[in-house]
Amino acid sequence: MADSGNTAVVIGASGGLGAQLVRQLQSSSDFGQVIGLSRSRSEHGAPHLDLTQEASITACAAWLKDRCSLLSLRLLIVASGFLHDEGNEPERSLTQLNADYLGRVFAINAIGPALLLKHVSPLLPREGDTKIVFISAKVGSIGDNALGGWYGYRASKAALNQIVKTASIELARRNKNICCMAMHPGTVETALSDPFSKKGLNVRSPEVAAQEILQVVHTLDASRNGSFMDYRGQSLPW
Ligand SMILES: NC(=O)c1ccc[n+]([C@@H]2O[C@H](COP(=O)([O-])OP(=O)(O)OC[C@H]3O[C@@H](n4cnc5c(N)ncnc54)[C@H](OP(=O)(O)O)[C@@H]3O)[C@@H](O)[C@H]2O)c1
Repeated sequence: MADSGNTAVVIGASGGLGAQLVRQLQSSSDFGQVIGLSRSRSEHGAPHLDLTQEASITACAAWLKDRCSLLSLRLLIVASGFLHDEGNEPERSLTQLNADYLGRVFAINAIGPALLLKHVSPLLPREGDTKIVFISAKVGSIGDNALGGWYGYRASKAALNQIVKTASIELARRNKNICCMAMHPGTVETALSDPFSKKGLNVRSPEVAAQEILQVVHTLDASRNGSFMDYRGQSLPW
């Protein structure tokens, strides 16, 4: 329902998925204000957000506090994430484990989002529907792990899932109408998946993926607090 007082915030707004989520939320008119934050781009004078630097997260939360003065933050989507960059590839074997990569993947995928919750949770409304959606990954499911490999990315997403679940319990004590959950977006054609998305996988465009994610977000309520779901709204094993 459109409400000019409501704010949606997307973290990782420069990413393949994040940029589409911002665009589609802006064109939906469900929110009076849609704010995208990212590390590499700055819009509306927002500070750059580097999830590996707590000072950067603190600065963004302070900036958001000014923009959401009436505790209007009704939707937060965290669509940032890291899998590979030059010189850093997901591991296929124990022999490839590397402390620098493990530290980086945990810092961006799990520790940063946890610190983000620490600094943004005081801005959340104490009553009324509020949704916090962390874009996770099915490979972070321990129960679903049949293939092995990708130690760091899998473990960082499993850690993220535990943080989301734990926070969902604490946040619901402050607002019984909150839904804090983890979502698997499916395989999406972005820079993150590009070197790995094999033929035969259901690879979707960021446009379609964002549309499907927002359809599920639309249906979320407190009954799905602390859940792990995919982009079709189906529950996933932790
Ligand atoms: N694509 C897939 O098939 C797929 C599958 C399963 C799960 N996911 C998950 O979906 C989410 C979105 O990924 P994507 O496919 O859209 O990837 P992407 O296009 O590579 O976008 C990643 C985003 O994360 C941001 N980011 C990276 N390091 C950061 C840092 N230190 N601080 C703040 N932001 C940082 C990037 O910002 P910069 O632009 O500044 O680098 C970018 O906005 C991720 O959580 C990913 O794990 C994706």
